[in-house]
Amino acid sequence: MLEITFAKPVLPEGGVLVVPVGEGLELSGLAMALDEALGGGLKRALEAAGFKGKAGSSATLLAPGSYKRVLALGAGKPGEARGAETLGGAVSAALGKEEAVSVLADGVNAEEAAALALGLRLRAYRFDKYRTTLKDDEKPKLAKVAVLTSAPKEAAAAYERLSAVAKGVELTRDLVTEPANVLFPAEFAERCEKLKKLGVKVEVMGQTELDELGFGTLLAVSQGSAHEPKMVVMQWLGDPAHEDKKAKKPVAPIALIGKGVCFDSGGISIKPAAGMEDMKWDMAGAGAVTGAMAALAGRKARVDVVGLIGLVENMPSGTATRPGDVVKSYSGQTVEILNTDAEGRLVLADVLHYANTRFAPRLMVDLATLTGAIIVGLGHEYAGLFANDDELAAKLALAGEAVGEKLWRMPLVKKGQSYDKELNSPIADVKNIGGGRAGGSITAAQFLQRFVGETKWAHLDIAGVAWAGKDSATAPKGATGFGVRLLDEFVKGFEG
Ligand code: BES
Ligand code: MN
Ligand code: ZN
Repeated sequence: MLEITFAKPVLPEGGVLVVPVGEGLELSGLAMALDEALGGGLKRALEAAGFKGKAGSSATLLAPGSYKRVLALGAGKPGEARGAETLGGAVSAALGKEEAVSVLADGVNAEEAAALALGLRLRAYRFDKYRTTLKDDEKPKLAKVAVLTSAPKEAAAAYERLSAVAKGVELTRDLVTEPANVLFPAEFAERCEKLKKLGVKVEVMGQTELDELGFGTLLAVSQGSAHEPKMVVMQWLGDPAHEDKKAKKPVAPIALIGKGVCFDSGGISIKPAAGMEDMKWDMAGAGAVTGAMAALAGRKARVDVVGLIGLVENMPSGTATRPGDVVKSYSGQTVEILNTDAEGRLVLADVLHYANTRFAPRLMVDLATLTGAIIVGLGHEYAGLFANDDELAAKLALAGEAVGEKLWRMPLVKKGQSYDKELNSPIADVKNIGGGRAGGSITAAQFLQRFVGETKWAHLDIAGVAWAGKDSATAPKGATGFGVRLLDEFVKGFEG
């Protein structure tokens, strides 16, 4: 476990030091004291290394003076977005094999010192539970980080809030990384039950309940699988208005809805073999909602939020849905399923209608690895944002910008117009795919829109951002945990 502490700005006598240095190479505070202790050796070494303080650059001094190692990290120009967080991530990336390091953070305020710690922690994430032959020198060692700051108390308090969010991100990454033989719907639901410890109310519904409710489209996806489907309803009731009441009920909560396809083989419309293993993370939307609920409860957000996730496995078998089948959704609308690989929208249709009718939420946000087409359109930098309300879209985009989980708004038209018309079926109320491959992410969003009524709603297509093929500033390659920080930041705007 990584232990991060905040301590007074006193220069340690030895060990491993991290020294952030901005462009201009001006040294002050602890960095200046270090340079003096080294007889001007820090400045000389940085010059000799051609170090200019550019963000993302670094220079290592081995065994200077009484120290084991000094790492100078480029802090770039002041005011760079999420600069402190990025610096923290760089510490983890460079010094994972050290046991203890001290970071000179006396040049930044308490919030930034905490952000540095957050970046450090998020970048240090590992998922090693299935690795039994890791050699000692392959294992990460970093266990103790001291952040040296002029305001250690304030920084520690700020980090405590961020730490709840980091826990949420880590939970999401764990869920998304788990293979589908381990994390099937029932197992996922059990992991959600653990949120009860944080004060989250958790309900789990299985085949029988979903059958009784009439979840026809969700069950059509699940029926080819040997695993029972589940829907998990999580409620965090943090609104101060509840304080004097015993029987708490959410009042116009924010509703978060997640696609939880624990494995997406495509069903009878089966996917090609190459890359199919990626479809273990087709539950990243549900993972993000679960992580966000953990984060909000962990930091005791002062607002009511409900999280609903539809958990299924999409498999081909003798009991699987066939292309051409017509089923009845929970909303009553009938759906012609022309492609069983367009399954996420079928799961979400029922869960969205349930969230909307049971909770009368003030707004709904769904997250889903919904389409390959969003990767064609936006790549891996931005998630797709679709919304029936401009203010909601703007708030989400701003929250994403603030935490570095960026959203790009895509078109969504009213029912009966252009893209939407493509969904008209000759035999049922709606079909589950558009006319062709063109605009595939948009027709998918249009399909969802038919199940949200008049409620303010946004859909985030996270297929391109839930998993990364390479390391980033604050995430090692693999599951990113995208959505947790975004939702946490978005929800802040509604807290009393
Ligand atoms: N889970 C996939 C989308 C996806 C693809 C996520 C690649 C992450 C990476 C989704 O269920 C799907 O199969 N969508 C189809 C829709 C098509 C059949 C209309 C797609 O995008 O090809
Ligand atoms: Mn699919
Ligand atoms: Zn899918």
